[in-house]
Amino acid sequence: MSPTAPTLTDALGRPLRDLRISVTDRCNLRCTYCMPGEIFGPDYAFLPREELLSFEEIERLARLFVVLGVQKLRLTGGEPLLRRGLPELVARLSRLEGVQDIAMTTNGLLLPRLAEGLKAAGLHRVTVSLDALDPEVFGQMNGLGVHPDKVLAGIEAALTAGLGVKINTVVQRGVNDGALAELWTALRGKAVVRFIEFMDVGNHNGWNMSQVVPSSEVVAQLSAAGEALRPVAAHYPGEVAARYVDAQGHEAGVISSVSAPFCGDCSRARLSAVGQLYTCLFAASGFDLRGPLRSGESDDELLARVRGLWSVRRDRYSEERGELSARHQKVEMSHIGG
Ligand code: GTP
Ligand code: 5AD
Ligand code: SF4
Ligand code: SF4
Repeated sequence: MSPTAPTLTDALGRPLRDLRISVTDRCNLRCTYCMPGEIFGPDYAFLPREELLSFEEIERLARLFVVLGVQKLRLTGGEPLLRRGLPELVARLSRLEGVQDIAMTTNGLLLPRLAEGLKAAGLHRVTVSLDALDPEVFGQMNGLGVHPDKVLAGIEAALTAGLGVKINTVVQRGVNDGALAELWTALRGKAVVRFIEFMDVGNHNGWNMSQVVPSSEVVAQLSAAGEALRPVAAHYPGEVAARYVDAQGHEAGVISSVSAPFCGDCSRARLSAVGQLYTCLFAASGFDLRGPLRSGESDDELLARVRGLWSVRRDRYSEERGELSARHQKVEMSHIGG
């Protein structure tokens, strides 16, 4: 793209800055709010290996998205660390000119084995999901009784490897909202902790507004347990989390997709493991890029295709949530990684 090419924006004036790439739909946990075990059981048909985009294909698409304005890449799943050879993909992506940030959202379980290799390959940071430190509560939320120490070991491995670390905590009323301040106090010296409002993603998590704890309540809880938190400015326009710091400068974030939607400056595109492009986390369907890619479309043709899709984008699901029917079908979280 020539330096004078106009910035690609969607129908609501939002640029394309952030590409989230799912590399697998499989996971080694069964979080009740994402992949409930009753649905994602032994008979669930996960994607066959040959359906997945290869690393070469992902690299090519990522390179084209960078031409269109993407600066930040995030690997997601399912659980991305289950994809064999992941450091090789990171190495390919880190060689792309124009990429400023390469991150990964993971449950952390495999980080003790993989953190060092990922850092060496060029990964900048990880966001590790951890909902509770109480073994009972965490075991229930992850659906498999996995102990929080396993995730804590992954966080330590990432820190030791020199990766930046954030922690994502999904908050559900009556489930883990009783011990948020404890989690924050235990982890704030190690990483930024972000509390996420439970969302109505996918079609199976039994979401109900009564289980959502508004972020304002979370901030009040954290403040009540220690010194008051003070809001600080976003790092970049369109940052998902609203940031707060305590007196020592430890950072907490809140992600308020339900109580304070942030669609207005949403610059995120999501690529599923089979090469479907989703222009919203709550979209019913994606746009196939794998077909055109495999049938031999040129870079220019693929660029024109994505430009065309982004330029008509009008998604703003979180802002419209109240008006949409509960029957609105949505893509599963495990296909686009949150
Ligand atoms: P940073 O780059 O560190 O700012 O991370 P991020 O907040 O962009 O990415 P992360 O994957 O950590 O996002 C945290 C969580 O926020 C996700 O897992 C989702 O649950 C939610 N989230 C992220 N992006 C969106 C979005 O575009 N819409 C909605 N509704 N929720 C989002
Ligand atoms: N609501 C909010 N966040 C969710 N995540 C998964 N499902 C939900 C949901 N229903 C988050 C996880 C993880 C990322 C993959 O998405 O906590 O951080
Ligand atoms: Fe797996 Fe993450 Fe979904 Fe939990 S939230 S089931 S760890 S993909
Ligand atoms: Fe972006 Fe859709 Fe999330 Fe709104 S609901 S912030 S448009 S992904």
